[in-house]
Amino acid sequence: MLVRRLSGYALRGELQVCPARRFCPKLIWRWTCTDRSGTPVPAYYVTTPVFYVNSLPHIGHVYSAVVADCSHRYKILQGVNSRFATGTDEHGLKIQQAAATTGKDPLTFCTEVSNRFRHVFRRCGISYTDYVRTTEDRHRQAVEQFWTVLVNNGFIYRGSYEGWYSVPDESFLTETQVVDSTDSLGRAIKTSTESGHKVEWMKEDNYLFRLSDLRHKLQHWLRSNPHVIQPEKFYYIVLQWLESDLPDLSVSRQKSRLQWGIGVPGDPEQTVYVWLDALVNYLTVAGYPEQHSRWWSVVHHVVGKDILKFHAIYWPAFLLAAELPLPQAIHVHSHWTVQGKKMSKSLGNVVDPLETSLKFTVDGLRYFLLRQGVPDTDCDYDDDKVVKLCNSELADALGGLLNRCTAPSLNPEQVYPQFCNTSFPKEPEEFNGRAVLEDYKMVEAVLRLPALAKENFEKLHAYKALEAISGCVRMTNGFIQRHAPWKLNCRKTEDKLWYDTVLHVSMECLRIYGILLQPAVPSLADKILSRLGVGPGERSWDHALDFLSRYEGRDCPYERRALGPNTGLLFSRLERKNVQEKHQKPGKRQDGI
Ligand code: MSP
Repeated sequence: MLVRRLSGYALRGELQVCPARRFCPKLIWRWTCTDRSGTPVPAYYVTTPVFYVNSLPHIGHVYSAVVADCSHRYKILQGVNSRFATGTDEHGLKIQQAAATTGKDPLTFCTEVSNRFRHVFRRCGISYTDYVRTTEDRHRQAVEQFWTVLVNNGFIYRGSYEGWYSVPDESFLTETQVVDSTDSLGRAIKTSTESGHKVEWMKEDNYLFRLSDLRHKLQHWLRSNPHVIQPEKFYYIVLQWLESDLPDLSVSRQKSRLQWGIGVPGDPEQTVYVWLDALVNYLTVAGYPEQHSRWWSVVHHVVGKDILKFHAIYWPAFLLAAELPLPQAIHVHSHWTVQGKKMSKSLGNVVDPLETSLKFTVDGLRYFLLRQGVPDTDCDYDDDKVVKLCNSELADALGGLLNRCTAPSLNPEQVYPQFCNTSFPKEPEEFNGRAVLEDYKMVEAVLRLPALAKENFEKLHAYKALEAISGCVRMTNGFIQRHAPWKLNCRKTEDKLWYDTVLHVSMECLRIYGILLQPAVPSLADKILSRLGVGPGERSWDHALDFLSRYEGRDCPYERRALGPNTGLLFSRLERKNVQEKHQKPGKRQDGI
């Protein structure tokens, strides 16, 4: 046994026979992670798709990344050992063509755009642990190994493909998946029914994958795992696809057509199909082919609905053929549109995440995307909606609440005040307290909030978690408003005790909101918690389970503690007019990519 010590964790590795031993007759390391006491620490691995580098990042891409980031941050708060991979998809015909139009060599072109994605993600607080590029050597090795396993397992054969191909989707289509259409010059063309992209006829000798053989196994997998594709609507779509014809899949292209890709092992005339290449990125990050089992058994994919077929049919089929475990879950999300239309360069309606994050702040953009983005239906992006939502929920409700608890005029001692059980007794009828029925309802709601938020963060439904938090923030503002502490006469002992209690309860609520908001709006949450004087070691999910401990009859570690420094407004109100004047409207990019 080999033990590696990391901060707070120990990784124990044991040599075991590879599960795919028929084809891989070697020993592999199987790792388990434990904490200092030797207790196993659960692991989680979340991925975004790797992003095409033929266009620059837009808010749709950032949405995929923010959804995965929120889940990763949430898992860390839960004490889980989480890994989060993102990166860029750099091979294929469309990248080859895009590089050619800029006159740059493909790798230089890919590196430039990949760096743009990395920059945007860093700016937007995407806390990935791994950034993978499909042009990396480690990835080429993983693809070559994966291909070899598929060949050795008898799933790849030489054949010829004749049919439709969509370069923008890098996808093969059957006759039923295309329709007659016309291009902008009125010429007759065929387009994909699903994406609307133009398709072309292709006839090539290449390698085919025995997808048709795996139909029943895929159906069995889905029927035995009814929650594996989320939301349910997409699960049924995939089941329906599997009811229809599932022809074998072409998994290579002739090198004469496609040079920009990974060569088929042992055949200098063929290049690996870009989707097979790209999908293996998830394994590359997990350490395939050497040490992937620890992460591979806990993988969760976040994908947009446009790439469902690749992730819910092709990918599981490849994994079945390679005798590797299938994903734990595929979380599908819908698309962001602008005035009901798909974002596209030609329409000039692409929303630039950098510009948007400068206008509305990173927290503003993240909050908007996570609060408004629902997985089932497309959502429309509009600057006005961002302004309205952020002003009402972040600036007014949350910022106002923090201000009411911490402003020197209301909290001259700048402390977390004391709670008085006589003013706010646990049993309303027990004492002659000052809390009213509505206050008890609020306390109940905040007590239940972590469980509700947990349930929704687990499903990657941040919008529901944020909705619940926002509802509680409203209740807490109502609580302060109802008791108007500023009207109390603090020279009277009884009033002073009640005054402090109102502030204490409100601050306890804010502490819970700050903890629960960390996955979605990390800087804003940090501002709340720092102002309340809540230290870095007091911000885990478990700390949110210890709400209002004095009310429950336990000690409260925050009571009488000095507040943290006043760093100004939590979130400055956004002015739609100023936003328009200061910044140009999102539109065509200056650099033409
Ligand atoms: N390269 C492939 C994925 C390969 S993964 C093995 C690809 N790239 S992409 O850049 O086109 O899309 C990446 C992600 O961004 C997908 O999840 C896609 O759904 C998402 N989005 C692209 N446009 C979008 C919107 N307008 N709205 C929301 N997400 C969208 O596909």
